[in-house]
Amino acid sequence: MSAIILNGTETAAGIRREIEREVAELKSAGGAAPGLAVLLIGDDPASSIYVTMKEKACARVGIASFPHRLPGTAKKEELLELIDRLNRDPEVSGILVQLPLPPSLDEREIVSRLDPEKDVDGFHPHNLGRLVRGEALFVPCTPAGIRELLRRYRIPTEGRDAVIVGRSNIVGKPLAVLLAAKNEDGNATVTVCHTRTRDLAAHTRRADILVAAAGVREMIGADMVKPGAAVIDVGIHAVGRRPDGKRILAGDVDFKEVKNAAGAITPVPGGVGPMTIAMLLKNTLTAFKRRRNPGQRQTAG
Ligand code: GUN
Repeated sequence: MSAIILNGTETAAGIRREIEREVAELKSAGGAAPGLAVLLIGDDPASSIYVTMKEKACARVGIASFPHRLPGTAKKEELLELIDRLNRDPEVSGILVQLPLPPSLDEREIVSRLDPEKDVDGFHPHNLGRLVRGEALFVPCTPAGIRELLRRYRIPTEGRDAVIVGRSNIVGKPLAVLLAAKNEDGNATVTVCHTRTRDLAAHTRRADILVAAAGVREMIGADMVKPGAAVIDVGIHAVGRRPDGKRILAGDVDFKEVKNAAGAITPVPGGVGPMTIAMLLKNTLTAFKRRRNPGQRQTAG
């Protein structure tokens, strides 16, 4: 039997419509619009594509975007000064520094300079710490998108075995925290696997929810998946071009094989990717609303 497709494109479109409506209401009430500053340093082609997609997504829902493209040779001081300026700018609700940064720049130092209340990626140490305590101001966008997809497709997490392959600060670690959290979207028993894991398949085969976020093309085959499991593919790899010039993409999961074993599966493209961008828009709107109403201190998880 073939798995249910967890359609990120469609789900994200629904979330964007919700955001668009709210932004329009805020604007018609005479308020300013939310704004996102998007920083790209260097000329990494994949990062450049992602950043353009994020800016287009902002425009579609009425969020202003403020692009800042710096050369890969940009000095740390120049970038920190720009971040300080954006931190003070009242038109900027959120700031996104696209990662990875060129090797000459220390990612931790740069990200730590963001005002945590504008850190819509949720990567600042203040926000990652708050996430662990269940008090996040912003949940990192990819884990938030995965949580939202599971929620909207009513895939239960409570008491189930979730196995995450990959331990990055952006995906694996925050997602482990979310799925293990003591709340209705968590309560899973979480295992985080990585490059030093022994007998990876023995772990993945136990997963009711399997998340592939290792950055290794099609590493998850059907023999690594428990029949009926929900399989979430975070990977994205350009594997060639069609005759019309469009890219051919693959994930960390061997989709063709695994869709016959899994109960539910995200495609690549059209699964986690659009959800990540939708969550960025949502976080930007949250940042804007918090700033307008500082008394409103609700957390995002
Ligand atoms: N690089 C890969 N994923 C992300 C993300 O979610 N945010 C940023 N800023 N950079 C990334």
